[in-house]
Amino acid sequence: MAEAKKLFIKTYGCQMNVYDSERMAEALGASGYVTTTSADDADMILLNTCHIREKAAEKVYSELGRFKALKAANPDLKIGVAGCVAQAEGEEIMRRQPLVDLVVGPQTYHRLPAMEKAVRAGARAVDTEFPEEDKFEHLPRGPRAGRGPTAFLTVQEGCDKFCAFCVVPYTRGAEVSRPVARILGEARDLVARGVREITLLGQNVNAYHGAGENGDWGLARLIRDLAKIEGLERIRFTTSHPNDMEDDLIAAHGDEPKLMPYLHLPVQSGSDRILKAMNRKHTAESYVRLIERLRAARPDLLLSGDFIVGFPGETDQDFEDTLALVRKVGYGQAYSFKYSARPGTPAAERAGVPDEVASERLQRLQALLTEQQYAAQDAMIGREVLVLFEKPGRETGQMVGKSEYLHAVHVTDPTVQIGQIARVRVTGRTSNSLAAELV
Ligand code: 5AD
Ligand code: SF4
Repeated sequence: MAEAKKLFIKTYGCQMNVYDSERMAEALGASGYVTTTSADDADMILLNTCHIREKAAEKVYSELGRFKALKAANPDLKIGVAGCVAQAEGEEIMRRQPLVDLVVGPQTYHRLPAMEKAVRAGARAVDTEFPEEDKFEHLPRGPRAGRGPTAFLTVQEGCDKFCAFCVVPYTRGAEVSRPVARILGEARDLVARGVREITLLGQNVNAYHGAGENGDWGLARLIRDLAKIEGLERIRFTTSHPNDMEDDLIAAHGDEPKLMPYLHLPVQSGSDRILKAMNRKHTAESYVRLIERLRAARPDLLLSGDFIVGFPGETDQDFEDTLALVRKVGYGQAYSFKYSARPGTPAAERAGVPDEVASERLQRLQALLTEQQYAAQDAMIGREVLVLFEKPGRETGQMVGKSEYLHAVHVTDPTVQIGQIARVRVTGRTSNSLAAELV
């Protein structure tokens, strides 16, 4: 048998990309590739790119430029660009960077083996179509080597919301949900390989409506069926839109014990004027009411969110409204960004706020969110939580895992095993994680 070729994948951006990179590795595994952790000895380098934030394409071009020496040293080295920048730039990548052999959009990874063959034969291959077929159904199910106790599982892709700032509806296309049976099959497969926690992924995951028994199933029904899988202990999902938070999903947070008490529910802004300009189709008030209902179902729910400051037209008052909403809701953890124009999106046509103003707002918002995060972590001290241990920590003898609330928790105890769910008492906080001891 020929020696295995080495594949190096560098993944940027969201968890969907992490999942996709694993699937690409499996697809190319069937073509004789094994993954390597270094670009230096690779026969193929794939950049799985993200287009969500500023200068994404420029960063990819500068990263590609750095592979010049590698390609000079190894003329057989093939270089590919995948993901959302590939989708957005398409053939332009080939024109601007002659080093690139292959450009593949997020919807056509299952065609990678054929593209790889063409590329090995000396061609340059581009595929950024939105095909009818489900890319995941056409990927080989390889052994997932070295798999830990947690896994991502993509159940839905694309987005029909068209928030005015966002490229996702253009790079990932319209909302598509995978059929229930496929998801259940993949989940059982993961559990058989030792996975105890699954995070269901989708750009708009709570809009999930996949073909199941007797018609379309929503996310809540899917979660309830997944929860029946023996050995699967924890279920999470991300990312959600407030308008798709249906009654049965709210109820599931209250009565499905395997659904973890953590929810990432982006609001983006606390100003109704800005929410309207963003085409979010909800108000600050309706979001707050939704949070109240979720907390009525699950009082200890830890909330996470996304915020954008400096959106075109945002006044001081609009920004104050965002701070007010953050104070009202109380987040355990959150992401905040300075608005940056994405070419092709409606907001890109509008005049932005001055950069110094946006930077100052971002600083103030982040200070408040960090304060809330620390307060939420400090509130855990003295409490008992269940931790799923995932890997050794930085210090010797240390193990780290996640609480139900997705807090990183570390203990120093030689008896703790990877994959174990153990009850621990939180003893302290170290900036971003919690220290604990076994109970
Ligand atoms: N500028 C800044 N932040 C953005 N996000 C999406 N598009 C932009 C943009 N153009 C943020 C949103 C989204 C998260 C994934 O990235 O907050 O929820
Ligand atoms: Fe982008 Fe999310 Fe809005 Fe869809 S709902 S357009 S993915 S920010």
